[in-house]
Amino acid sequence: MKTLDDVLVIGAGVMGIGIAQVAAEAGHRVFLFDAREGAAAQARDTLAAQLDQLVAKGRRSRAAADATLGLLTPVAQLRDAACAGLAIEAIVEKLEAKRGLLAELEGLLGDDAILASNTSSISITKIAAGLRRPERVVGMHFFNPVPLMRLVEVVRGLQTSDEVVRRVTEMAVAWGKTPVTALSTPGFIVNRIARPYYAEALMLLQERAAAPEALDACLRAAGFRMGPCELMDLIGHDTNFSVTTSVFEANFFDRRFTPSLVQRELVDGGLLGRKSGRGFYRYPEGAPAPTA
Ligand code: NAI
Repeated sequence: MKTLDDVLVIGAGVMGIGIAQVAAEAGHRVFLFDAREGAAAQARDTLAAQLDQLVAKGRRSRAAADATLGLLTPVAQLRDAACAGLAIEAIVEKLEAKRGLLAELEGLLGDDAILASNTSSISITKIAAGLRRPERVVGMHFFNPVPLMRLVEVVRGLQTSDEVVRRVTEMAVAWGKTPVTALSTPGFIVNRIARPYYAEALMLLQERAAAPEALDACLRAAGFRMGPCELMDLIGHDTNFSVTTSVFEANFFDRRFTPSLVQRELVDGGLLGRKSGRGFYRYPEGAPAPTA
């Protein structure tokens, strides 16, 4: 098997750049690719600015920040990262896009590379189906913001091999994460439990029972780190809506997981949350995402 020294991260959005940061901080050589031209280089620049802030606050040494950036290379084409022994995809939450990408990676990286998906909700069994070697496909579900959140759900599809689960679990530990093995059930563990949290908040908004500020203040006062509206803004409404839709369908349209009209309206209007500058709240341009 290839070593996991070289890691390819695909998708330089909210999650991809966080995963790339954590991998580089753990000493891996990291290649970052995004289908949108310039997005990977732009994400690296944003990370550089965030690391500068951490250095200024004394939470990173200059040398550590430089080492992280030195290990992170944006690539314009996937084939520029053919040496990678591990690919982690963090692209749009759509089955066909993920399947297409993994089929391409299978050809590029060779038979012994591990193909991991950061999907929040799509079946790993389904993503792997039809590949030449489905046993090397595994879920590595990180949480947002990646540098701060310790949990990683290591998701085992029907055909994922024990060896692949073992290797990514060990690697997650080496990255300072807390891996938990989950089966490829809809929403895995955390998103299955979290769906009703978002759904109930969205229902309260639809009923005009409370404004986002009030909901968030209540839940914070009740001990939650973030309220549901600010959390959905952080996640991204497009991603959150896709996840709910996927869990709803995968549970044979169980009403408990019904997607929200309020959230679909936000997505339709391009009010995606922090990443677009506006969701339930407005974010001044360049507002820093939580980092570590
Ligand atoms: P995002 O919208 O911030 O970023 C996605 C990136 O992927 C974009 O830059 C886009 O240009 C790129 N992309 C889309 N299709 C592509 C393709 N075929 N090839 C290469 N690049 C492509 O999305 P985000 O939030 O980072 O989510 C990515 C994945 O991570 C999704 O599967 C999502 O469910 C999952 N996830 C998201 C979390 C969150 O809080 N946002 C938490 C945990 C998992």
